[in-house]
Amino acid sequence: MRYKLFYLMAFSFFLFFTSNAYSADIENGKKLFKYCTLCHGNVGQGIKGGDFPKIGGLPKYYLMSQHDLFVSEQRYNPAMLTIGRLDKMSDKEKDDLYTYIASIDIKTSAPTLQIPTYTGDVKAGKKLYKGDCKTCHGSVAQGKDKKKAPPTAQQYSEYLLRQIDFFQAKERIHDEEDDETFDDYSKQEIIDIITFISTLDDK
Ligand code: HEC
Ligand code: HEC
Repeated sequence: MRYKLFYLMAFSFFLFFTSNAYSADIENGKKLFKYCTLCHGNVGQGIKGGDFPKIGGLPKYYLMSQHDLFVSEQRYNPAMLTIGRLDKMSDKEKDDLYTYIASIDIKTSAPTLQIPTYTGDVKAGKKLYKGDCKTCHGSVAQGKDKKKAPPTAQQYSEYLLRQIDFFQAKERIHDEEDDETFDDYSKQEIIDIITFISTLDDK
């Protein structure tokens, strides 16, 4: 009888400790987020029309991978390392921070936020998007985890256009090293695709 009780207690302690070891501390994540709000807004809604992108609610796997790219300077933004102190974070802090950022629901946290629609041809953009982007980014640009492709709906068009410039200039890797997605598009076609994306709502 006593032994049974002992095993039961030992097992409860085991469950208690393992569950704690693996669950992120979202309150600590919220504290760490103070290093980001200067540029990304108090709920990660982005500011200055996309000079600083919206990051609240992006999937955790994507936030984590971008963190590593900025730290290794494959994506270049030194101010994020000094002010955001990205390169000083432990794995635990990263886990807490990105669990928190991924949990932000922009629709309720910033209900008045309006991502403006862009100025190109929606219909032409839709056709190109369905043909060339949908398989990875999803039919309403909601992103697809298994393709590691982030959502692009409800992101500032100016920010997305800037990323495509980086992809074309091979200053940022899109999907994989020898990706050719953006090699043959005209400027107008890219504007049209971004315009179509700016009409989408992934929620
Ligand atoms: C000094 C301003 C600044 C600070 C502070 C800052 N960021 Fe950024 N962040 C930027 C800019 C600018 C970009 C866009 C870079 C680009 O165009 O490639 C960016 C991009 C990002 C992206 C990429 C978004 C995407 O869709 O790919 C993530 C993720 C991000 N920041 C996370 C953070 C986190 C987390 C913090 C706080 C720990 C932080 N940033 C602090 C300026 C800042
Ligand atoms: C084969 C899959 C695939 C296809 C097809 C694809 N993408 Fe992507 N895209 C990705 C992946 C993966 C990433 C994330 C790259 C990274 O981790 O930095 C990405 C990132 C992006 C980003 C950056 C988002 C951000 O928040 O910084 C933009 C913009 C983008 N893609 C636009 C497009 C457009 C427009 C098309 C169609 C013309 C397209 N993609 C087709 C896989 C794809």
